Amino acid sequence: MKEQIKQIGQEALNEIASSGANKDSLEALRVKYLGRKGIVTGLFKKLAELPSADRPEIGGLINALKNDVTRALDEKLFLTARDEDAKDHIDVTLPGVSRGPGRAHPIMQTIDQICDVFISLGFKIVEGPEIETEHYNFEALNIPLEHPSRDAFDTFYLRSSQKHLLRSHTSPVQARFMEKNKPPFSIIVPGRVYRPDATDASHSFMFHQVEGLVVGAAIKFSDLKGVLEIFAKRLFGRSTRMRFRPSFFPFTEPSAEVDISCILCAGSGKHNIGSEIHRCSLCGGKGWLEILGAGMVNPKVFKNVGYDPGKVTGFAFGMGVERIAILKYGISDIRLFFENDVRFLRQF
Ligand code: PHE
Repeated sequence: MKEQIKQIGQEALNEIASSGANKDSLEALRVKYLGRKGIVTGLFKKLAELPSADRPEIGGLINALKNDVTRALDEKLFLTARDEDAKDHIDVTLPGVSRGPGRAHPIMQTIDQICDVFISLGFKIVEGPEIETEHYNFEALNIPLEHPSRDAFDTFYLRSSQKHLLRSHTSPVQARFMEKNKPPFSIIVPGRVYRPDATDASHSFMFHQVEGLVVGAAIKFSDLKGVLEIFAKRLFGRSTRMRFRPSFFPFTEPSAEVDISCILCAGSGKHNIGSEIHRCSLCGGKGWLEILGAGMVNPKVFKNVGYDPGKVTGFAFGMGVERIAILKYGISDIRLFFENDVRFLRQF
């Protein structure tokens, strides 16, 4: 009998140790050994058949066996429960995954730099919607129906509506702001704009602009020149020079295209490499880089928003942020800004 008890004990402990760690198989083992018809329970029944002199010793052994099996089952059950628990709990003692500090996208950094210059000159930042109406994107800005940019080809129209489109410039915010505010004011409007251009190294269907608008009692073209000169020198360096070329925009009159002296060749259009003279690759030998469009606000625009053109004048300008960033950082392809390749982005 002693041998049998010892053997059952070993078997039971082995079986418990090697059993699958789940509650059901452990319960089956409990029934097998400790249940009413279980093996250990069976040993207690046999005890009655033994001579009374042997009963205390054998009884003690069976009790010890019962305790061992019970303890082994309880331990295994505890470990099983803990493992199952761990599956759906977060171990807060594990070290975290470090991602390093983030930073602003180079386009956002450029917008910030541009805005900082104008904020220091007293401008206020204003924003407007990217989904616009024909009225604000065109009509309010004196862009007539027959103007080429009105063709659906040049603007993304929303499928659900004939009248809604993705703004093709930030200028509609001029009209929106003037309708709700009285001069004098100086605002800049950073934001996204959309044009259905085929994507290549210098075109993207989405890009960013910063618009400027200053309106007051006697704003002059020389004010425009002065403000833009400060802007260009702050952004591109003190030795930067500016050039205004006559141009046309329906919402400004007169209008100008504004160039800065090339930041690579300092306006000379060439580079001397040893005894050789090379044409500057950035400005193509012209010595100038176009950076924005500008002009005096067209009196028709003032009338459209309810201002009296006899009482107020103003200037407006609009620049492409990608273009400025490309020039400033010497980037060769506009697509790099939107591919989100961290090897590119990390450099800024
Ligand atoms: N909205 C013009 C463009 O997108 C730029 C501009 C703004 C020109 C303000 C003059 C005045 O090309």
